[in-house]
Amino acid sequence: MLLTDKFGRRISDLRISITDRCNYRCVYCRSGSDGPQFPEMPIADYLRMARVFVGLGITKVRLTGGEPLLRKGLVDMVRELGQMHTVEGNRLDIAITTNGHLLAEMAQPLADAGLSRVTVSMDAVDADRFARITRVPNGYERVLAGVRAAQQAGLSPVKINCVLMRGFNDDQITAFGRFAREQGVAVRFIEFMPLEEDRVWTPEIVVTLDEILRRMAEFMPLREIGHMGSDTARRYVFEDGLGEIGIIAPVSHPFCGHCSRVRVTSDGKIRTCLFSVREHDLAALMQAGCSDEDMADFICDVVDHKEERHHIGEPGFIPASRTMVHIGG
Ligand code: GTP
Ligand code: 5AD
Ligand code: SF4
Repeated sequence: MLLTDKFGRRISDLRISITDRCNYRCVYCRSGSDGPQFPEMPIADYLRMARVFVGLGITKVRLTGGEPLLRKGLVDMVRELGQMHTVEGNRLDIAITTNGHLLAEMAQPLADAGLSRVTVSMDAVDADRFARITRVPNGYERVLAGVRAAQQAGLSPVKINCVLMRGFNDDQITAFGRFAREQGVAVRFIEFMPLEEDRVWTPEIVVTLDEILRRMAEFMPLREIGHMGSDTARRYVFEDGLGEIGIIAPVSHPFCGHCSRVRVTSDGKIRTCLFSVREHDLAALMQAGCSDEDMADFICDVVDHKEERHHIGEPGFIPASRTMVHIGG
């Protein structure tokens, strides 16, 4: 039995948040003052959940946070995930989304443990601007070192996530274009979504896909290349064939019709959409002593009822029941 929802979407991508602690306070995500809000489960519990999900057809597992590199036992967790096989008998695709602050030390051990890929959040290619966004001093050099360490450890192509906010970092677009060409990384610009703790989102603050393409063309035009239907990012190269740029445009070009994702929060709740207003308590079921079969039945039922799409920018939009730092991205 493979996971599908009532709209016929195949769910093959599981994201597990292993902590909602974070050592950065990015303006588009966290408030300057609030800390973690949800408990963490033992790593063994996430692994049991992952095993059941994989038995239902999950082929990609992405570990998220908060900041996942803060979690003790992460390397062992990746090693355990590396032992699991998809229902087709292939190796799992194991990825991490990190702010990169601790990556310089951890890239090699994670690669050795079986990590396939890493995505690093970087919202400026300028140290001062970087500090203004993350609200932490001296992060830029560390994150750059983390990106290099990941490349050296063979976690290539490293993806860079850049959430654009008008007035904060939209002047970095062409600088990131150069960065992608020079550093051999795939830079992905993300349209800002209303998932932040500080509730600063407005439609005007979003820098859209069309605007990014227009502004990048002032440096050098981009040419679109093919992407998988369920991918979040539209992919581009510069017209001379160098440098990969992705644009993730959930606001101006929603991709919900092809959504392949389901999420587990650090406290073991299933979220079927980033914008879910309801969660499903898989941890409670597990703690009540249920079998793997019971868990599989529960997951199938929950996924069947996955939301059709988000309603960003529409009248009557109901905010998600958690902000991004507590969901995991
Ligand atoms: P891979 O294809 O495995 O590399 O993953 P990905 O491209 O989905 O990358 P990643 O996990 O880094 O996601 C990038 C960003 O896209 C996230 O941080 C979110 O901002 C956004 N995103 C990811 N999944 C969804 C989704 O299901 N819905 C919406 N609206 N946005 C998403
Ligand atoms: N809108 C879009 N993307 C976001 N991220 C965090 N908050 C938001 C938001 N409000 C992305 C960051 C990070 C990932 C975990 O989630 O790019 O890489
Ligand atoms: Fe999937 Fe919800 Fe994201 Fe749309 S907003 S792509 S349905 S998780």
